[in-house]
Amino acid sequence: MTIRLSTPEVAGLGPLVGKLADWQADTGPVQLHPGDLGWFWRFGAERTANSVRVWDRDGEVLAIGMLDEPDLLRLAIAPDALADDELAQQIEADLVEPARGVLIEGEVYVESPADARVKVLLFKDGWNTAEPWTPLRRDLAEPVEDAEVAVDVVGPEHAAVRTAVQRASFDGSSFTDERWHAMAAGTPYASARCLVGRNERGDAVAAVTVWSAGPGKPGLLEPMGVHRDFRGNGYGRAITLAAAAALRDLGASSALVCTPSSNVGAVATYRAAGFEVLPETRDQKRPF
Ligand SMILES: CC(C)(COP(=O)(O)OP(=O)(O)OC[C@H]1O[C@@H](n2cnc3c(N)ncnc32)[C@H](O)[C@@H]1OP(=O)(O)O)[C@@H](O)C(=O)NCCC(=O)NCCS
Repeated sequence: MTIRLSTPEVAGLGPLVGKLADWQADTGPVQLHPGDLGWFWRFGAERTANSVRVWDRDGEVLAIGMLDEPDLLRLAIAPDALADDELAQQIEADLVEPARGVLIEGEVYVESPADARVKVLLFKDGWNTAEPWTPLRRDLAEPVEDAEVAVDVVGPEHAAVRTAVQRASFDGSSFTDERWHAMAAGTPYASARCLVGRNERGDAVAAVTVWSAGPGKPGLLEPMGVHRDFRGNGYGRAITLAAAAALRDLGASSALVCTPSSNVGAVATYRAAGFEVLPETRDQKRPF
């Protein structure tokens, strides 16, 4: 039995989104989420397909990678294949050899789930740990407290408001209305929502996109931001509460988010909205 590496066609993305959803579990490691693919979809379906790498054994999908950048691969692995040595060896071989078309030459980064065998193999190859990330989770068994701001669910006619808040929240954001529409046309967006928070004057002050992976599965916040002119007023906490409530309405068992540990404001905001800090994770970096 051999393990095969491939890049999907656009038509093949739907089933892969379904696999990523299946692999999410509150009890398992944090995995690349359908929402990560959904957020990437703003660049279009073609570019999304080109950024995905799939490892299968006799047609059974065992690992799915997404190249967030040409030098950053984020991996999800089927829960019962996390310790699969043959799979880990094949992924390792494909990652270290640029000709296989996964990662470029030089300094590159890989994110893989905790407990993945491939992590051990990459450390043995001399890879180092990189920047720490903090995952946070809020259980959604109980109803979420009121956000205490007005919250709109964004439809196509309000895309411009959503993208304007994004650009005012993240330095260097390239989110445009065209990209919002590309994202909203993607398979994962069928179980996603964009929310915009408004202050009492009606200004759009905060925004978030939430992605459900289906009932009983962890849902993802990606991204969340507060307009730079309106920070420090509790809107970050408020839009995060609204995001958690929206995910609960979509049937999610928990709300999940990941942020660089260095983003102390984001970690504080999620904690203020009832999220619990999970153990830090670190990408692995090839230093040569
Ligand atoms: C992080 C961000 C969302 C905070 O928004 P905000 O509206 O200012 O946050 P809030 O006023 O709701 O604050 C919530 C809590 O976080 C704390 N906090 C917010 N920014 C902080 C900072 N820079 N440093 C330390 N604490 C901070 C507040 O003190 C508050 O804590 P408290 O409830 O214990 O008093 C905002 O700065 C932002 O959009 N940053 C850029 C985008 C980003 O990083 N998004 C998250 C990425 S995943």
